[in-house]
Amino acid sequence: MTHESLAGRVVAVTGASKGIGWAVVAALTARGARVIAGARDVRGLSLEGAEFHTLDVTDETSVGAFAGAAVRAGVDALVNNAGVGSFQPFEAITVAEYRRVMDTNVLGTVLVTRALIPHFRERAAQGQGSQVVNITSDVSARTFAGGALYTASKYAGRALTQALAYEGQGYGLRVTEIRPGMVDTFFAGSVQGEAHKAGWLRPSDVADAVRYALTAPAHARIDEVLLHPVEQEVAF
Ligand SMILES: NC(=O)c1ccc[n+]([C@@H]2O[C@H](COP(=O)([O-])OP(=O)(O)OC[C@H]3O[C@@H](n4cnc5c(N)ncnc54)[C@H](OP(=O)(O)O)[C@@H]3O)[C@@H](O)[C@H]2O)c1
Repeated sequence: MTHESLAGRVVAVTGASKGIGWAVVAALTARGARVIAGARDVRGLSLEGAEFHTLDVTDETSVGAFAGAAVRAGVDALVNNAGVGSFQPFEAITVAEYRRVMDTNVLGTVLVTRALIPHFRERAAQGQGSQVVNITSDVSARTFAGGALYTASKYAGRALTQALAYEGQGYGLRVTEIRPGMVDTFFAGSVQGEAHKAGWLRPSDVADAVRYALTAPAHARIDEVLLHPVEQEVAF
């Protein structure tokens, strides 16, 4: 097994039907991982090494079924990727949009992670470590006009990541926050491959960061990865 191989690993990935999630599934299965992949619409999806499940991260019952499948497969890592974008002036934020964004980006991460923690604790009792990788955003620690709702959800994702890292140290859990800048996906109603996004990060760039975190040697913890396309203004 090469250092970069993920053979023998079992990884659960949310939001796996397109964009970054799909690229993560492709990158991990290509290196030998078995992937339990979830999204609300997985019709017609298949990839060698992956099994696709219908998953709505905002729904406890749906999350329970997904987590059950992941535990039965012997999951050792979770990638919380499912998320939605929403940008508007502050005064245009509606209750419905607030709930859609916060439920998907924040509650979703809480529910899926929470569902797997008992399993991660059992693994620790057997001397095995586990990993959680949260795809937040470069705007998990800075904001901008029109970004109140979305960035609030991503700041929350950063807080969830860091609190889990503190707690997880007690049960062999390494937690990583991946913070991409602009990525060419279907995000916020855009279409992957649009000409104006030619210089943006590719979904595979973010998948590479996930692979980097998951293949770190057992004595190393990748706390955070911040990556931008070079055409995006430098910001931390
Ligand atoms: N694109 C960017 O510039 C960018 C930058 C930084 C961070 N991000 C973050 O990267 C993550 C992935 O976004 P993306 O750019 O790849 O967007 P995308 O192309 O729109 O993909 C989003 C994925 O999330 C799934 N999803 C949405 N709501 C869900 C739910 N309730 N339950 C389960 N799955 C759900 C979607 O599938 P279904 O609709 O079938 O459920 C889809 O697979 C998000 O967390 C986003 O905030 C994106």
